[in-house]
Amino acid sequence: MTATVLDGKKLAAQLRSQLAEQVAAWSSQHRVVPTLAAVLVGEDPASRVYVGKKQRACRKAGLESRLVELPQHTPQERLLEVIAELNADRAVHGILVQLPLPEHIDTQVVLRHVDPQKDVDGFHPENVGLLVQGTPRFVPCTPAGILRLLHHYKIPTAGRHVVVLGRSQIVGKPLANLLLQRGAGGDATVTVCHSRTPDLARFTRQAEILVAAVGRPGMVGAEMLRPGVVVVDVGINRTEQGLVGDVDFASVKQVASYLTPVPGGVGPLTVAMLLWNTFQAAQLQVEGKITAGPLPGEDAPCPENADSPWAS
Ligand code: GUN
Repeated sequence: MTATVLDGKKLAAQLRSQLAEQVAAWSSQHRVVPTLAAVLVGEDPASRVYVGKKQRACRKAGLESRLVELPQHTPQERLLEVIAELNADRAVHGILVQLPLPEHIDTQVVLRHVDPQKDVDGFHPENVGLLVQGTPRFVPCTPAGILRLLHHYKIPTAGRHVVVLGRSQIVGKPLANLLLQRGAGGDATVTVCHSRTPDLARFTRQAEILVAAVGRPGMVGAEMLRPGVVVVDVGINRTEQGLVGDVDFASVKQVASYLTPVPGGVGPLTVAMLLWNTFQAAQLQVEGKITAGPLPGEDAPCPENADSPWAS
């Protein structure tokens, strides 16, 4: 078997151009340009690249984007002040604090200080709680992108065994929760494996869908998989050979039915979902509600989505 390669780059471009049309119509109606503020602390080169991509994508889709750059040794209190200013700024609709933060800063404290209605990453405890309860307000961008990609290629999750490698706040935990929800994009049986899971292959061989989000180059090989598995590679590892995923692409391509490439798989969708969340945040702040749209999570009854047929 040779896997079909899931083209995240192409799908993301389609979604961004659809979004650009919606944003243009909404902006001219409300005379407001949805605005994202990205906060970048320190000099991490990869973070700088990601934030640059997010900003360019915003502008191309007709959203405004601001960058707040702070030096590596910024005290936590100063970062919290910056976030408070952005929370209070009515021209800013979405706030993204790029992770990881420098070690002297307590990430959880910082994430708790972002106004939950501007939390386009979906990392604030209120938004995590809403997602776990099945009523997400903002779906974290990478899990949303993965579900959107599966949906686009008509790969069902219902009743299937999905094995998620990695338990991060950014990918593993929210994705596992979304896959467990009732309804579209969910209804899966989910196993989450992590660095303390012994005999990983015992679990990965059971996967009908495998999501690798661990940050270890090429760690998933064909011998760990059953034929016909769908493989989603979330890893972005910088090696001497260039950017590589967590999956050994060449060998896995021979056993999987579908496989995402790195680059050009999940990454571009993560950015598209961030734009979507920023548009949702602008709607929420200007109109007091989020209009249901074409992306996963939108059908769920978030508290402000009063027009949703699911709202009680
Ligand atoms: N670092 C890696 N992925 C992400 C993400 O989705 N959001 C933020 N804020 N930081 C990240």
